[in-house]
Amino acid sequence: MATVLVTGGTGHLGRDVVARLKPSHHVRVLARSPGSDPDVEWIRGDLATGEGITAAVSGSQVIVHAATLSPAARRGFLLPVDFWRSPPEVDVDGTRRLLAAAVHTGVTHFAYVSIVGVDRARIPYMRVKHTAEELVRAGQVPWSILRATQFHWLTDRMLGKAARLPVVPLPTDLRTQPADSRDFADYLARRVVEGPGGQCVDFGGPEVLTLGELLATWQQIRGRQRRLLRVPVPSAVERAARDLTCPDGNRGTITWAEWLRTHPPE
Ligand SMILES: NC(=O)c1ccc[n+]([C@@H]2O[C@H](COP(=O)([O-])OP(=O)(O)OC[C@H]3O[C@@H](n4cnc5c(N)ncnc54)[C@H](OP(=O)(O)O)[C@@H]3O)[C@@H](O)[C@H]2O)c1
Repeated sequence: MATVLVTGGTGHLGRDVVARLKPSHHVRVLARSPGSDPDVEWIRGDLATGEGITAAVSGSQVIVHAATLSPAARRGFLLPVDFWRSPPEVDVDGTRRLLAAAVHTGVTHFAYVSIVGVDRARIPYMRVKHTAEELVRAGQVPWSILRATQFHWLTDRMLGKAARLPVVPLPTDLRTQPADSRDFADYLARRVVEGPGGQCVDFGGPEVLTLGELLATWQQIRGRQRRLLRVPVPSAVERAARDLTCPDGNRGTITWAEWLRTHPPE
């Protein structure tokens, strides 16, 4: 049974990946706060400091690198600082450390989780992810890079935060393609079985929806009615948002409405 190290295995996607891999692999998770699942080998560590990396990588054949640090995703809304800087300690420095350890311990597949459009997007978090992709491509370990569109949980968190305001300001015409992390975890798990695939086909949700449509569905299912303030955006921003979708890519099946009906608000 191959040993697969999952970084970020306590996160939204990582939990789904661990669940998919457990029946057929020995799964290790490097985590700052290890969990209690007895079917997982927990290794305490921190990608930002390097703690635990050697122990976690040693003896692993595959690494699924799904850890990330996005302050905006954590808080559920953007601040001006997010357009200026994103911390690189986990996504860039942590990736570099993992790759260095993997070269010396015979890892045969490094699967890096990324985001659709990172090569074109300008916001700092996306630039950080793109830098990490470049490290993976330039490294000596056979690799896959798998990019996904925004996950439902994050869209839900952001709308929930926005709806705390009496009026929700929203660029309603921007296009999105929200995806379920379980669908993407299936895609990732198949890649683990198939082996290194280089730059894999982008993965997106089943529907391309405008932000206005997302909010309407969210309000209806969450039972929260807020007044909407339509924010016009320049066409360059509309194009940039379109770059974060992949209508021609690989598509999941779980829709935004289905996800909302089966997940309570945070
Ligand atoms: N969210 C989206 O919409 C989306 C869309 C496309 C692709 N992605 C990508 O999918 C991957 C997973 O995202 P997610 O949505 O599952 O994020 P998430 O729920 O925020 O999970 C992030 C994970 O990274 C771990 N982590 C953070 N700092 C760490 C550190 N210093 N050392 C070790 N682990 C650390 C977290 O552990 P702690 O609990 O210790 O913080 C957590 O397990 C990322 O690569 C992300 O860029 C996300």
